[in-house]
Amino acid sequence: MFAYTRLPEKDCRSRTRGRVRNLQQHSLRRPRPLKRRKTMAGLLERDFCSEQALLQHGGKLFIDDKWLDATSGATLDVYDPATGSVIAKVAAGDTEDVDLAVRAARRAFENGAWSKLTPSERGRLLWKIADLLERDAAEFARIESIDNGKPITMAQGDVTLAIDMFRYMAGWATKITGTTTPLSLGFEHHSFTIREPVGVVGQIIPWNFPLLMAAWKLAPALAAGCTVVLKLAEQTPLTGLKLGELFQEAGCPAGAVNIISGFGETAGAAIAAHPGIDKVAFTGSTEVGKMIVRAAMGNLKKVTLELGGKSPVIVFNDADLEAASAGAAAGIFYNQGQVCTAGSRLYVHKSAFDRVVADVADTAGKIRLGQGLNPDTQMGPLVSDEQLGRVLGFIGAGQDQGATIVAGGERHGDAGYFVKPTVLTNTSRDMTVVREEIFGPVIVAEPFGDDDLDKIAAIANDTEYGLAASVWTKDISKAHKMARKIKSGTVWVNCHNVYDAALAFGGYKQSGWGREMGEYATQNYTEVKAVTFKL
Ligand code: NAI
Ligand code: MG
Repeated sequence: MFAYTRLPEKDCRSRTRGRVRNLQQHSLRRPRPLKRRKTMAGLLERDFCSEQALLQHGGKLFIDDKWLDATSGATLDVYDPATGSVIAKVAAGDTEDVDLAVRAARRAFENGAWSKLTPSERGRLLWKIADLLERDAAEFARIESIDNGKPITMAQGDVTLAIDMFRYMAGWATKITGTTTPLSLGFEHHSFTIREPVGVVGQIIPWNFPLLMAAWKLAPALAAGCTVVLKLAEQTPLTGLKLGELFQEAGCPAGAVNIISGFGETAGAAIAAHPGIDKVAFTGSTEVGKMIVRAAMGNLKKVTLELGGKSPVIVFNDADLEAASAGAAAGIFYNQGQVCTAGSRLYVHKSAFDRVVADVADTAGKIRLGQGLNPDTQMGPLVSDEQLGRVLGFIGAGQDQGATIVAGGERHGDAGYFVKPTVLTNTSRDMTVVREEIFGPVIVAEPFGDDDLDKIAAIANDTEYGLAASVWTKDISKAHKMARKIKSGTVWVNCHNVYDAALAFGGYKQSGWGREMGEYATQNYTEVKAVTFKL
């Protein structure tokens, strides 16, 4: 178990001293003494460096400031997707555990320690989480790389973005305000609005960016004053559980943050249906998003959804074709294509089509696949056996329906869940590879012959999704016009997959409800109350 992560004894000691120092620097409300590190087997402190000690609390659920086994005693296996071998067992939370967590979150919200924190104190807590994450960044990145399979450099990038999200949202905690509103009844009234936290929030996240998705969800909810029950993806629970350790170390009040590993059909479904949850925020498949909406009907809990995509990349012949080809390749192959905004449909003007497709295929052929911790690796495995089967199934269906494979098109090696970066041409718009989210390193490329922007936009918009798009051109006017015509929550011009904590993110059509990031995310977690005085 955890064979990659054994630390030399020396590193281990200095890390521990570092923690003590940091703890003193950052004390918020009730700084905690450094606990003896417990692991699954109740090992002594020196065993912190052993293979089993990736998680200080041995993969237990973080509920009400305690580390608990699942009530049922069930565990789930965590796999290394580069080898297919089991690397850890964590608790498999279920309905009873969700219920315990919801009760704890309710107590903390209604009259507990969380509701007594001032906005400034909430902001300081979030800032402190960012500091602790920064301190432990290398460890988080390594665990993420092992758990998800992604190359270590990309895992490091995810940790940086997660840190940034906590810092950004720390700033919002003190800036969530209402307005004063003049009424037309005359001057005998004074009306204003206040924005109040929506209450207990359930959050369900996927496996493609495990730590980053946890940050995107937790930070705005906590900034707004909500308490949270967060369910991690069953494929990738390790960094999320580890984040629970940081909340505890930071002195987060009991019950404000509860983190549960468990399966979607059990723990996830229990969150979506729980009458004690006021709002659910979900990131994942459109199919499950619809199930969440149905389950939320019971108590009409508020719902925000960040779902699938089939994002177009539109390359005009006046673009910097070298940059466009590199951007198209990065847009689909980043994170093994397991990105909701992956640029999975490439549309290129016919005069540049052959060149751009050849460039993307050339890049695809040169990408080095391997285990995420290997510094030479440029692309890791898919996250699971299930995703491997799904992605190969899509490629096979594309071939059966007449698509031409110009790069990849098959599994890489016979261990782990690797798929070669794949480029398909001769596709038509009714093929499943063109219509459905593949969520793997597979791009379909099609030429367009028209210069009519409305017709090009219609091709881009010919999808049930509307998450993102990129447009590649040197013509500013054309770029602006296309940005308006495309029906998606994000349009990138001469770039793809650019995110920022301050920038709205979310989907049109079946890509979701609501926006994350920026001030929009805080709005997801507040209710607006209008207060009127008769003077
Ligand atoms: P999924 O939508 O089943 O899983 C996402 C999260 O939802 C996980 O935490 C899972 O445990 C939970 N979940 C599953 N069933 C649930 C239910 N009935 N009630 C409540 N929560 C539930 O996605 P999955 O099966 O891992 O991947 C399938 C496809 O979904 C992918 O191939 C991809 O197309 C899409 N997907 C999209 C993501 C995005 O970021 N937009 C992320 C992950 C998957
Ligand atoms: Mg699923």
